[in-house]
Amino acid sequence: MTMTQLPAGPGGGQPLLEVRGLCVDYGSGESAVHAVVGADLTLHGSEVFGLAGESGSGKSTLAYSIARLLRMPGVITAGEVVFRDRDHSVNLLDADAQQLRELRWNQIAVVLQSAMNALNPVLQIGTQLTDVLQAHRPGLDRTARRQRAGELLDLVGIPQGRLSAYPHELSGGMRQRVMIAMALALEPRLLIMDEPTTALDVVTQREILEELMDLRARLGFAVLFITHDLSLLIEIADTIAVMYAGRLVESAVARQLYRAPLHPYSYGLLHSFPSLHGERQAMTGIAGSPPDLRQLPSGCVFHPRCRYVMERCKIESPPLEPPAKASPGSPPRLVSCWLHADGADGAGGGATSPAVPAELAVPDDLAMAGAAAAPAVASPVVASQSPGSAS
Ligand SMILES: Nc1ncnc2c1ncn2[C@@H]1O[C@H](COP(=O)(O)OP(=O)(O)OP(=O)(O)O)[C@@H](O)[C@H]1O
Ligand code: SF4
Ligand SMILES: [Mg+2]
Repeated sequence: MTMTQLPAGPGGGQPLLEVRGLCVDYGSGESAVHAVVGADLTLHGSEVFGLAGESGSGKSTLAYSIARLLRMPGVITAGEVVFRDRDHSVNLLDADAQQLRELRWNQIAVVLQSAMNALNPVLQIGTQLTDVLQAHRPGLDRTARRQRAGELLDLVGIPQGRLSAYPHELSGGMRQRVMIAMALALEPRLLIMDEPTTALDVVTQREILEELMDLRARLGFAVLFITHDLSLLIEIADTIAVMYAGRLVESAVARQLYRAPLHPYSYGLLHSFPSLHGERQAMTGIAGSPPDLRQLPSGCVFHPRCRYVMERCKIESPPLEPPAKASPGSPPRLVSCWLHADGADGAGGGATSPAVPAELAVPDDLAMAGAAAAPAVASPVVASQSPGSAS
């Protein structure tokens, strides 16, 4: 395992997790599916980082790869995943089985898609919680393990008396809470949650998310939260990245992305659900369907569905980079779209680039100051919560 001293980040803060150039395929050779292509993301301690995208865009593949839980025929073909373990950094892609055992649960915990069905049906939930503690905290005796298991249930809003319940005696929401309790058992620094509440009704979903955000505030862990529901991320995430056909196409502070999405796909996702606040808005949605990853379009992979498509888009793939006309002093953001490349809007002499459409334009500082206002597009799930806490 590579141990490298990380340089200090801005203001002395150092990222907890850095993913650089991560590529993941299913299969090999001509028939390989490129499920994740050159993913870069940075997550800081205590941050909620939201990853959104349609079904099949590669969200789970990215999460499994970060946690080294990817199964065959999945293969990580390039990149690095650097996790900061106190004053050292560890490239998780170089870690051996023993090192991964030490990091998982202790430092990095994962709640997988449909995790609530992953509980062992023939064991009481108390036993399943104490088993985790026995494996990773051998210093705790039986009584201390049972006590800690009870505290963990308390933490997620389940009475300690339910320790002796079997999974089938609990509702779906309670089982999902047990999975979250299990993930938090060893006080990890990073919680990866893949669609943790998708299978639940909206009321239960809302309760669990509120509890999760409360726990995050109290315990200080960071969260990589994956969902197809961008509206939900607007409410809970500090930073959001949008994924399309295996690529990250935009990332920004949650409020920025909500107020001023730069990528046509992000704009389409945001305008695919109704507003609960402010004036009525026309729902535009996104024409067409996600591409077959075995037969990707040339150039920008979004171009067959993009209403702003240009000739260049059909030939060249746009890099993920800061927009050419970023507002001075605004938080950093990245977008993969030729509309925002140097030369678009005539900024760099790009004679073939049209003006950036007003709805996708980079806002000025005044517009960003207005981003603190209440959302005009709100999630039906957590609509009454305030927007993400990032500034
Ligand atoms: N075992 C596998 N073998 C081959 N292809 C796979 C396998 N698992 C996933 N894929 C493909 O990889 C792509 C990304 O899948 P992934 O499950 O990561 O998407 P996702 O964004 O998590 O979707 P969802 O929102 O439905 O969970 C999809 O096109 C999928 O068909
Ligand atoms: S690069 Fe072109 S096709 Fe792709 S999102 Fe931007 S405008 Fe649309
Ligand atoms: Mg998934």
